[in-house]
Amino acid sequence: MAAPIRLLTALVPALFATQSIAALFPRSNETTHLAALEACNQLEGLLGSPLVQSSGPSYETAATNAWNLQNSEYQPTCVVFPTTSDHVQVAMKAIYDARSQYAVQAGSHSAMKGWNTVQDGVLIIFSNMRNATYDPVKDSIVLQPGVHWHDAVTALEPFGVAPVGGRVGDVGTGLLLGGGLSWLSPSQGYAADTFKELDVVLVTGELVTATATNEYSDLFRALKGGGNRFGIVTRYELSPVHTGTKDNKTWFGGMMIFNSSAEALLNATARYVREVDDPKAVILVSLINIVVGEDLVPFYLVTPFYNGPSLPDDIFGDFLSIPAVSSTLGPMSYFNVAGTLGLGNDRGYVQHFGASALLGDEDLFLDAFNHWMDFSVAYKDNFNTTTLAFTPVPNSQIQAGRAKGGNIINPPSGGFAAVQIYEQFKAGITDIPQDVQGGIDVLFDQIPPSPGLPLYLNECDSRQKVFESYGDYELLKQIYAKYDPSRFNVEHSQGPVGL
Ligand SMILES: Cc1cc2nc3c(=O)[nH]c(=O)nc-3n(C[C@H](O)[C@H](O)[C@H](O)COP(=O)(O)OP(=O)(O)OC[C@H]3O[C@@H](n4cnc5c(N)ncnc54)[C@H](O)[C@@H]3O)c2cc1C
Ligand SMILES: *[C@@H]1O[C@H](CO)[C@@H](O)[C@H](O)[C@H]1NC(C)=O
Ligand SMILES: *[C@@H]1O[C@H](CO)[C@@H](O)[C@H](O)[C@H]1NC(C)=O
Ligand SMILES: *[C@@H]1O[C@H](CO)[C@@H](O)[C@H](O)[C@H]1NC(C)=O
Ligand SMILES: *[C@@H]1O[C@H](CO)[C@@H](O)[C@H](O)[C@H]1NC(C)=O
Ligand SMILES: *[C@@H]1O[C@H](CO)[C@@H](O)[C@H](O)[C@H]1NC(C)=O
Ligand SMILES: *[C@@H]1O[C@H](CO)[C@@H](O)[C@H](O)[C@H]1NC(C)=O
Repeated sequence: MAAPIRLLTALVPALFATQSIAALFPRSNETTHLAALEACNQLEGLLGSPLVQSSGPSYETAATNAWNLQNSEYQPTCVVFPTTSDHVQVAMKAIYDARSQYAVQAGSHSAMKGWNTVQDGVLIIFSNMRNATYDPVKDSIVLQPGVHWHDAVTALEPFGVAPVGGRVGDVGTGLLLGGGLSWLSPSQGYAADTFKELDVVLVTGELVTATATNEYSDLFRALKGGGNRFGIVTRYELSPVHTGTKDNKTWFGGMMIFNSSAEALLNATARYVREVDDPKAVILVSLINIVVGEDLVPFYLVTPFYNGPSLPDDIFGDFLSIPAVSSTLGPMSYFNVAGTLGLGNDRGYVQHFGASALLGDEDLFLDAFNHWMDFSVAYKDNFNTTTLAFTPVPNSQIQAGRAKGGNIINPPSGGFAAVQIYEQFKAGITDIPQDVQGGIDVLFDQIPPSPGLPLYLNECDSRQKVFESYGDYELLKQIYAKYDPSRFNVEHSQGPVGL
């Protein structure tokens, strides 16, 4: 979404005071500090430089790599740069034995503070494991965890295949562990539903291969939505989608930009969510406020796509009839579809996500919008942009996931909208001010999920009870207790609550 937004940033004044970041990370207790030092000393001995770094240019690059500014300010005790799963095993065992804090970073795009980095602990970063390959004999895509979606799609395009992956290019494979909402999801399921085989380093350092049918099938299922709680995935084998190459213009769609008509867009969205169940149709509706001085400038971005020669009127007609400021609709290859929203690699701002999930009439969507507007206006001095985005999760997506063995999110049958509430803070703001945090909490109360619907882990606030909202929460807890009986992960790394 950053690419089109950037067109308007000439309007945005760029002068902001830089706050001090000192004292953001008071030294944690001595036990934690010593455990991290012990793990790092161990790892320097076992893996050596350059795989383990505590200072220097590659350490600095890794420590400041996170997309959310809050996460780029942590200073891990050391950073491990594995190139094989063996290295990850050695690292995890040393972390476990030393009882050290730790974190894992793949594509770096978590908005949640502390989920992809650590203070007084070990950071395992996958920046040197970025391959994406296709095996035509097995008809499998294999991804190393450090690859970003743009690079994966680009590497695989010549083979006429694509992974069910992210909609924004710089995002990485952590998306898979939270479920994953893709342009291909209505026909294939959540991105995680395409897992064939996963290599997983368990909390003790043991490496296992999990599939839908082997002795680790429970772990396999938990990793389809369980995030970073169940182990470190070092290899993803995925079912590809045979999308064709750049030359196969089998899709139709693009980007429509509006600067008004919020109510008509919300009406169209509410109806789409209730009624559309065509696996060839996909849409993202992002209502964005760009803060320009004292004003909120509406920038509404709608990206409809259809895997066919045109956008069927009975599916997209409501959107097409609303006057757009600009529109780029036309025939596209899947490669074009995947590139529509650009890279989204804008660094240097505090970023905050929140999740809801809605199904209902027009008023429900309009009500959510009105609360979000009130919030945006009340706290606008803090923001660069605020976004309310709707991703329809159609029934076809839910059924496709079940047909592939099921995931742990296990939404009820029928469609709904995954709702993302997203703020990008102004340059110079280094942490979320307390009054804004209070406003966010009120907003969550005002836009609760419709009964029975799951919240989306990858777009949540870290305090939201996402796991509790899953259809298979009880099973998730049982599987966690089996694979991490000493609760090491929940006590030594940041991540989703509820286990
Ligand atoms: C600009 C932008 C666009 C987005 N677009 C989409 C979208 O289209 N669809 C969608 O579904 N989501 C989207 N998201 C949300 C995205 O899925 C999450 O931010 C996701 O967590 C990012 O994964 P990552 O690898 O980039 O991030 P990271 O922060 O590196 O990882 C995310 C989490 O997974 C853990 N993790 C990563 N790799 C591993 C591993 N191998 N083993 C164990 N744990 C691991 C990390 O510790 C962290 O907790 C978007 C986010 C942004 C910022
Ligand atoms: C120090 O932190 C560890 C966890 O990292 C915790 O178990 C312990 O209770 C803490 N000790 C004190 C004195 O706070
Ligand atoms: C990853 O790609 C590099 C460069 O092509 C290659 O040398 C390496 O063997 C690959 N690793 C794996 C695990 O496929
Ligand atoms: C892509 O084009 C080639 C060549 O015309 C064709 O053989 C193939 O079936 C097409 N693939 C798809 C997915 O449309
Ligand atoms: C929307 O854009 C059009 C065309 O650029 C412009 O004429 C109109 O004033 C804009 N409306 C708003 C509400 O900004
Ligand atoms: C939106 O839907 C509501 C309820 O159906 C209707 O009253 C209203 O006129 C619609 N607004 C627009 C702009 O379409
Ligand atoms: C606002 O956000 C855009 C897009 O992410 C970014 O390019 C721009 O630099 C930001 N502006 C400010 C003032 O933070």
